[in-house]
Amino acid sequence: MSETDKPTKTVGKATNIAWHEGEITREDRAKALGHSGCTLWLTGLSGSGKSTIGVALEKALIRRGILAYRLDGDNVRHGLNANLGFSPEDREENIRRVGEVAKLFADAGVVTISSFISPYQRDRDKVRVIHEEAGLPFLEVFIDTPIEVCEQRDPKGLYKKARAGEIKGFTGIDDPYETPQRPEAHIKTDTQSIEESADQLVEALRAHGIL
Ligand code: ADX
Repeated sequence: MSETDKPTKTVGKATNIAWHEGEITREDRAKALGHSGCTLWLTGLSGSGKSTIGVALEKALIRRGILAYRLDGDNVRHGLNANLGFSPEDREENIRRVGEVAKLFADAGVVTISSFISPYQRDRDKVRVIHEEAGLPFLEVFIDTPIEVCEQRDPKGLYKKARAGEIKGFTGIDDPYETPQRPEAHIKTDTQSIEESADQLVEALRAHGIL
């Protein structure tokens, strides 16, 4: 190896790779956008309202001139994660990939709104850690809707199918959901409107110094 060779390393399965630093800092991007990036991680049961609240929040932020973007479980499973199912391993990989994508968006200066059931605390914590290590704000948001309410709403008819045994391993029926212990925001959708929930999250962003 000559003295000018850049040191490389192995990361996972990738060998001989080296980090290539850019010339634009996170602060440069924040100045260009007028705000910094972060990840709002919405977690909750299927039918709890994650996507609906995410849509309302994205609208509320864009109207205020804040660049926001949604990463949504059902949508991401159409593309990036189309090769993953709902086994514990696949759910873990789903959240790992999306966590990395959210981190990239947050680094780019975007207020990133992710809506995934993300049933395991350990997987959510790993996403928190990669954000914290990168110095990026991460807010865990518990979309707290009782399973009875989710099942009554049943927007995609999936609870009915799960009860009939047509879907195996459905979260909340015959698969676990681990309730967040210390979320930065706690939203109770059975007692507050979609707009109130979106407003609560805008306030949470202010309280954490992001807006
Ligand atoms: S996660 O558990 O891996 O975080 P994700 O949020 O990406 O899940 O996808 C959840 C969506 O997939 C649900 O809203 C539902 O439409 C669909 N789905 C299909 N099968 C299941 C299942 N077994 N458990 C939960 N959701 C399922």
